[in-house]
Formats: sequence, C-alpha cells, structure tokens
Amino acid sequence: MKRVAILISGGGSNMVRLVEDMQAGGYAAPVLVLSNDPSAGGIAKAERLGVPTAVVDHRPFGKDRAAFEAELLKPLAAAAPDVICLAGFMRVLTPAFVRPFAGRMLNIHPSLLPKYPGLHTHQRALDAGDAEAGCTVHEVTPELDAGPILGQARVPVEAGDSADTLAARVLTFEHRLYPAVLRRFVADNRETLFL
Ligand code: GAR
Repeated sequence: MKRVAILISGGGSNMVRLVEDMQAGGYAAPVLVLSNDPSAGGIAKAERLGVPTAVVDHRPFGKDRAAFEAELLKPLAAAAPDVICLAGFMRVLTPAFVRPFAGRMLNIHPSLLPKYPGLHTHQRALDAGDAEAGCTVHEVTPELDAGPILGQARVPVEAGDSADTLAARVLTFEHRLYPAVLRRFVADNRETLFL
C-alpha cells in the first residue's frame, strides 16, 4: 500500500479530507502530517484521525531555507512516504528539496492554473472580473505552482462575492478534487481530472 505524507500550515481541511478518503477507501496509508507552524489547527485534527504528526517551525531558520528544509526532511524521511501531498502548505520549497520527490509530490492550489500562481488568488480573480474561479491539483516541480496539472474544478464567481466567500466556495470543491486525484495518482493514472 502506498504511504502518503501530508504537509500543512493551517486548518488542514484538505488534509482531513485526504486522510478520511484514504481511511475509507483503503487505497493508501496516511503515515505523517507535518506542519511548519506549531499553531496549525490541522495538527490536532490529524491526531484525532490517528495519523502521526510532526512540527518543524520555520521561524527560527529565518531566510535560511536550506537549513529549514534539512530539518523538514528528517521526519519526512523517517516516514518513508511514496507520495507527498502539500495541502495548504504555505512555504515555498527550494528546487533542491523538490527534485528528489519529482513525480511523487502533489499540491492543491486555489486557482485555475496557469492563472494566478502564488498568493491572493481569489482577490486577483475578482479584480480581473473573472466569471469563474477554481482549484487545481498539480505535480510539484521546482517552478512555483507550475507542474503538470492532474485535476481541476471550475467554480462560478457569484455577484457580490468577496475573496472570503469565493474562497469558501472553492474550498468545498478542493475537498472533492484532491482525494479524487490522489486515488487516481496512486493507481498511476495521470490523466487530468476535470470536476
Ligand atoms: C486551501 O485553499 C489551499 O488551496 C490553499 O490554502 C488553503 C488551505 O486550507 N493553498 C495555497 O494557497 C497554496 N499556495 P486547508 O488548510 O483548510 O486545507
């Protein structure tokens, strides 16, 4: 059975959906939830789901990304994952960290990539007057938010939307998309899934 590690920074709602889907479907084993933020709400949620957790606070490392990533690698290597899912992990990973996991690290991003890589995706979609927004699951490559797209869900922008209301609507689609893509990915299906 494929071993899956999940990296989070915050509430971890996508992580919860991934773990629940793996536990219900039995197609992969969640072996680690790893956070860069000790106050991430997702840590307690992972513990309640019976998944081992670890925290590597990025702040003591300042701008030294390599030193932070060396620490991050310790619990990750010990968990020996086959697949790594970034799920609301808000640190940019260096190419040196990403490369060894080429083809087995996924990310979910709250936009219809290649539109709006980076931050503030919902506000940017609203500012542009877009009629639809969405979310994307893609393979992680050294370039930020640019790897091969594995799944995408389109979500309507509604009149009166704020970045918060749009983010909340997109998040409900993230919760469907990410587990569906992971299921296919561990079965070696790399065809793009459109929801
Ligand atoms: C999600 O919307 C995810 O797409 C986004 O952060 C949120 C995390 O929510 N990720 C990024 O913006 C990555 N750059 P969650 O902690 O409840 O899963």
